[in-house]
Amino acid sequence: MSSETAKTHAARAALNYVKDGMVLGLGSGSTADIFTELLGLRVADGLKVQGIPTSQRTADAAAEAGIPLLSIEHADRIDLTVDGADEIGPDFALIKGGGGCLLREKIIANASDLMVVIADESKIVSTLGAFALPVEIDPFGFSITARKVFDVFGITGSARPAVSLREDKRSGKPFITDGGHYILDCACGVIADPAKTAAQLCAVPGVVEHGLFIDLARVAIIGGEHGAEILER
Ligand code: A5P
Repeated sequence: MSSETAKTHAARAALNYVKDGMVLGLGSGSTADIFTELLGLRVADGLKVQGIPTSQRTADAAAEAGIPLLSIEHADRIDLTVDGADEIGPDFALIKGGGGCLLREKIIANASDLMVVIADESKIVSTLGAFALPVEIDPFGFSITARKVFDVFGITGSARPAVSLREDKRSGKPFITDGGHYILDCACGVIADPAKTAAQLCAVPGVVEHGLFIDLARVAIIGGEHGAEILER
């Protein structure tokens, strides 16, 4: 099965949640990109929506697709956000941030009346953590922050992680997010207690945000070879 096909099935099913007049959070990543493209086709057919992009890359893709954009500063509400995920665990707890957009993704998901996560089946896991958890940090004092982030995993019962500063593959320099921050990728295999880990990470000075999205998604649309399954909680 092509994962492209599965992602397309999930993205297409998510369009059923979109209604005329909505303000939409537009996610980032390859699955969200497909949603943006399909949404653009609906807009070309007359659907009236406004999009708030979760990354500069998505802003460019949405503009290209002809979707009217709204600055988040001018939004009095966000009706729906559709976004991808790197892992989907029990109760739709997510790991996000593989693309480095987790801060804006979380601000927008948290401000939305509904977050729908779209993914192919490979993203479903029974425990979070096989995908290295992205943690967005301020560049100032980053090596001290990295040591404190490392300690969080021990305190919260996970295995000692491998913590690495994400690199921009083209330049070999640290990857810089849209907000001007660094990313630490924390690989520990299994995150023993996601809620406690999330709380402890937020308490580390220098941590701007982390990729654990707990209690945010209420719908998960999982694409497969022949269609998509809609799960709600
Ligand atoms: C972007 O920062 C991420 O949160 C993406 O949503 C996540 O990495 C999923 O991306 P794909 O749809 O490309 O797997």
